[in-house]
Amino acid sequence: MTEKKTTIQALQAVRGMNDILPDEAEVWEHFEDIVRDWLKSYGYRPIRMPIVEPTPLFKRAIGEVTDIVEKEMYSFEDALNGEQLTLRPEGTASCVRAVIQHKLLHGGGGHRLYYHGPMFRHERPQKGRYRQFHQIGVEALGFEGPDIDAEHILMCARLWDDLGLEDVSLELNSLGSSEERARHRAELVAYLQAHEARLDEDGKRRLHTNPLRILDTKNPELQDLVEAAPRLVDFLGEESLKHFEGVQALLKDAGVHFRINHRLVRGLDYYNRTVFEWVTTRLGAQGTVCAGGRYDGLVEQLGGRPAPAAGFAMGVERLLALWRESGGGGETAQPDVYVVHQGEQALRLAFRAAEALRGHGFAVLAHCGGGSFKSQMKKADASGAQLAVVIGEDEAAAGEVGLKPLRGPGGQQRVALEGLADAVAECLFTEEEDDGGV
Ligand code: HAM
Repeated sequence: MTEKKTTIQALQAVRGMNDILPDEAEVWEHFEDIVRDWLKSYGYRPIRMPIVEPTPLFKRAIGEVTDIVEKEMYSFEDALNGEQLTLRPEGTASCVRAVIQHKLLHGGGGHRLYYHGPMFRHERPQKGRYRQFHQIGVEALGFEGPDIDAEHILMCARLWDDLGLEDVSLELNSLGSSEERARHRAELVAYLQAHEARLDEDGKRRLHTNPLRILDTKNPELQDLVEAAPRLVDFLGEESLKHFEGVQALLKDAGVHFRINHRLVRGLDYYNRTVFEWVTTRLGAQGTVCAGGRYDGLVEQLGGRPAPAAGFAMGVERLLALWRESGGGGETAQPDVYVVHQGEQALRLAFRAAEALRGHGFAVLAHCGGGSFKSQMKKADASGAQLAVVIGEDEAAAGEVGLKPLRGPGGQQRVALEGLADAVAECLFTEEEDDGGV
């Protein structure tokens, strides 16, 4: 008889979209807590936008001839009404759409906003480049001076410092105004046309659609060509130069080092004036951990009253990888107390004890699933808890529990349920004092 073999196709996550398992997810939460405090300390307020937006929003905001719009968007048609929709590839367009839709700028004054969450780009996945990745984005709308640009950069520098990140450096450029870019573009195209034979396929394609992006090429054979190309900075007028110098002066005052990179052009079309990227050499090819700049024309371009704006977004996966590389992010949360118990009465008392302790603010893991005291104590130890609450038939009958230190010295004591929270506090805080050498 031949054995019938059935192979079941294993179900896997979509390529480039990752599960974040508990060990890792705890580091994410720790990171997000730090980030939230940091944002609050600069007066930024949260905003949450949908993950799906009408496709024309991104086409208009990011630009028809950018890599993102040309080939990286997850777009689909709404089966019910035929509307063209897209999974957001970034947050700035959605944020500006929301600000316009809800007339947030009508009361005058500026808004400092932040968001975080998944973004989607159909790129070729590799280390540090995913199809679903996460950004923390910051947008300041209604501020026109160089001060807000500098604030954003100083914020980043402080966060790197708080996280203890190593080897992150700042690249800065100014893209001027659209008129200044147009004058530069004419010269740039003339220069590149004179060398068209040397351009690669990508360069030839971009020559008439988005020539500025050619300056960004990674092709080693084109480096000398783009290095000698006309520089945008030489086309900046007085106002743009003054703005750029204003940003630099504030950075210098704060002791933030930067390198002016004349070829930093960014991959989204909405930018003008200041643009910046924070880069590291520690993560291989995908070394940009954070990027942004000014986008004064976008609010009007998306149908709002003209308003200046600037912002940036950081790639959470890349920052976390760098945090790990720099020795951070190791600590994960552990319970204060693990409750072990045996017998029906003991189980009921264990639930009451655990809830009473949680009511006093302690983190408690109550054992579930039975097993011998010995195996439960092994789990208590492995949980990282400082203390075990031990409840057997005897304790249950007396309405008392055993309290046993799992890490430090000292034996098991018996306490009444009513006195448990105080006894736990005494054990934990005495231990902390011992640790601190007080
Ligand atoms: P972006 O440069 O396209 O800018 O993305 C910002 C950051 O997101 C990058 O520096 C990188 O760390 C991360 N990132 C981008 N694509 C991927 C990917 N496929 N996998 C992993 N990480 C990635 C923006 O998105 C602008 N909205 C930033 C901005 C906000 N400008 C003004 N306000």
